[in-house]
Formats: sequence, C-alpha cells, structure tokens
Amino acid sequence: MKTVLVTGAGGGIGAGIARVLAKRDWHVVVNDVSASSCDKVAADIGGTALPGDVTADPAGLAEAALAVNGRLDGLVNNAGIIRRGPLSDLDPADVDAVLGVNLRAVVALSAAALPHLSAAGGAIVNIASMAAEVPQLNGGLYAASKAGVVSFTRQAAVEWGAEGVRVNAIGPGMIRTEMAEAVYADPVMYERRRALIPVGRIGAPEDIGRVVAFLLSDDAAYVSGQHVLVDGALTQTLMAHFPQPPC
Ligand SMILES: NC(=O)c1ccc[n+]([C@@H]2O[C@H](COP(=O)([O-])OP(=O)(O)OC[C@H]3O[C@@H](n4cnc5c(N)ncnc54)[C@H](O)[C@@H]3O)[C@@H](O)[C@H]2O)c1
Repeated sequence: MKTVLVTGAGGGIGAGIARVLAKRDWHVVVNDVSASSCDKVAADIGGTALPGDVTADPAGLAEAALAVNGRLDGLVNNAGIIRRGPLSDLDPADVDAVLGVNLRAVVALSAAALPHLSAAGGAIVNIASMAAEVPQLNGGLYAASKAGVVSFTRQAAVEWGAEGVRVNAIGPGMIRTEMAEAVYADPVMYERRRALIPVGRIGAPEDIGRVVAFLLSDDAAYVSGQHVLVDGALTQTLMAHFPQPPC
C-alpha cells in the first residue's frame, strides 16, 4: 500500500491532509509533536501514529516511517509554527524556533527520506504559505522561513529530479485551524477576512489536502518545483485596492 508521512498531522491542515489521503487509499503515517493528537488522528483514519518533534531526529523519523510498510511513497512537510513580532524586535529564541521547524527540519527530513522516496518513485509536498509571496506583517521571520521553503522546493526539484523524486510546495491562504483560531473566533474579524477572498469563504484543511493528493499522484507526474497557491485568489487582489475611473 502506498505510504505517506505527514508531519504536524495531529491537527489543522495536517489532519485535513491525512483525512483526504486516507480516503484515497494511502496508508498515512501521522506525525505530531503532540502524542495524544497524533494517536487520535491515526486511529480515526486507520493510519499509524509516529509522534515526535520534527527537529529532533529527522533521520530516525524517516527510518521509522519506512519501517511501517517497508516503503515510503510520499512525504508531506506540514509541521509549522509562527512567532509573532515586528522585525525590529525579534527574539533570537523565536528566530531559532521558526527557522528550525519551518525550514531546517523540512530540509533535513526531505534529505533523510530521499533514498526511500527515490526507491518508490515518490514525491515531496512542502506546506509553505502565501506569506512566502507577500509579507505577513508583524509575523516575525515566518514569511522569510516560508520563502526559504519555496526556494528549497525549487532547488530540490532540480537536484532530485534525476533521482525520480518530484518536489512541490503549496501556499495556503487563509485556512481555519488552531494556528489562526484566535482571529476567526472573533466574528467581526472573521467577516472582514472572508470578504477579502474572491471565492467568498475562508478555506478548510481539506482544501489543502485535495491539492496535496493531486501533487502526490501520477496525475502530477510532470509537475515539479512549483509553489501552488491555494488561497481562493486572495494573493491576486492587489489591483482591486486601487481607485479606478468608472467603466
Ligand atoms: N492556517 C493557515 O491559515 C495557514 C496559512 C498558510 C500556511 N499554513 C501552514 O500550514 C501548516 C499547518 O498549519 P496549521 O494552520 O494547521 O497549524 P496548527 O498550529 O493548527 O497545526 C500545526 C500542527 O503541527 C504540530 N507541530 C508543531 N511543531 C511541531 C514539531 N516541531 N514537530 C511535529 N509537529 C509539530 C502541532 O502540534 C500541530 O498539530 C504550517 O506549516 C503553517 O505554516 C497555515
């Protein structure tokens, strides 16, 4: 059975990705730093729980995922964190944490999984962000870390194409998860955000999961090195803010 490791899949977007992939006959190895949420999602979808911090032992995590079914066809680097604050006042500990989880762990886990993915003709999907393309103000180094993920994705696609491994990234827009729940719990803020999105709604984790499923599938056999924005066209709205003469 095709096997995929999804990091940070104990909640939010990662859990949505895990649910979609399980429905499409993937065996999902569910990783999360929270063992209890990891166990719950794995039990719900009939997957395998592999709790752990992605920054701790990437090689061990890749080996453990391989050991589940003796093959690894997909890796979804989804675990991510944000430490908010202005660029003029960054806490070095926050910088280390954000770069460690969002970028260094993505690179290390991808490299550790490469031989297994290569043997299976597999693929990597990195969950970046629309913030890689447009800055997230007062988001600390979050946007920079995600821009790093996109750059890594493009380079890895070129370096690892010959190994038979495709590498793509997804840039979610506004998705309702724990990471953003403080914002969406406020109905006024929710409506102000919703109104900015051309497709007319805040996204759900499954919106990202379905695009992950495509990028991991043979339908995407000729797609590599891309950052696919899944944002309801939000990032394309800049000109909508410009005053225009009447038509
Ligand atoms: N929610 C959004 O609107 C949004 C938008 C753009 C990008 N993203 C990205 O999508 C991904 C998922 O975000 P989310 O909104 O679901 O966040 P979330 O906080 O709801 O969930 C993240 C999950 O990752 C886990 N995690 C955190 N650090 C970890 C670590 N070191 N090792 C293993 N697991 C760890 C958490 O326990 C949690 O279950 C992140 O990379 C995030 O940057 C989210």
